[in-house]
Amino acid sequence: MNELLAAGHTTVLGLARSDSAAAAMAALGVDVHRGSLEEPESFAAGAAASGGIIHTAFNHDFSRFVDNAAAEFKASQPWAKCSRERKRPLIAEVIGRRVGLPVVSMSREEAADHFGFLGHFFGLDIPASSAKTRERLGWQLTGPGLIEDIDREAYFPRTAA
Ligand SMILES: NC(=O)c1ccc[n+]([C@@H]2O[C@H](COP(=O)([O-])OP(=O)(O)OC[C@H]3O[C@@H](n4cnc5c(N)ncnc54)[C@H](OP(=O)(O)O)[C@@H]3O)[C@@H](O)[C@H]2O)c1
Repeated sequence: MNELLAAGHTTVLGLARSDSAAAAMAALGVDVHRGSLEEPESFAAGAAASGGIIHTAFNHDFSRFVDNAAAEFKASQPWAKCSRERKRPLIAEVIGRRVGLPVVSMSREEAADHFGFLGHFFGLDIPASSAKTRERLGWQLTGPGLIEDIDREAYFPRTAA
């Protein structure tokens, strides 16, 4: 949350399930949304008010790992649906729109059938961050974000022509 605020996001909304978490967020200058994994609709309401979501809530009682993963998945569905309905673009959607190709969602198995061995890599969740580069080189971000950057005419000159 500190990083989001430091990066210039004027409004950051944090999910808190306890009074102590709510107080800690408020002390940081973060707006507080009360809710928990056990109340999936509370996630959806928070998502509807947000331009982007960073979801890290998880119950790390590993003696109940399967149950906890199922609860987390269930809790994620309303806000995932909300994000889709609000048509927040994903990178693939921007590229598909710009090059005039449909974008479809595939299961990992379907991706393997369609792309062969590459399907395995496309199914991996591999988030990337510039945090270490910025820290080591003193690189200050001033330009647009990735999706905003590729969603420009200059990125797809042939379709823009
Ligand atoms: N740390 C790692 O090395 C690592 C590695 C791989 C993946 N991950 C994943 O990255 C994410 C964040 O990890 P972390 O290390 O930051 O975990 P963490 O320190 O255990 O934080 C988990 C957060 O989830 C919240 N939470 C737990 N149960 C909840 C519930 N029922 N409803 C709402 N919130 C709930 C907790 O809130 P409270 O403050 O109220 O307890 C806490 O803020 C998790 O999905 C984790 O599985 C972490």
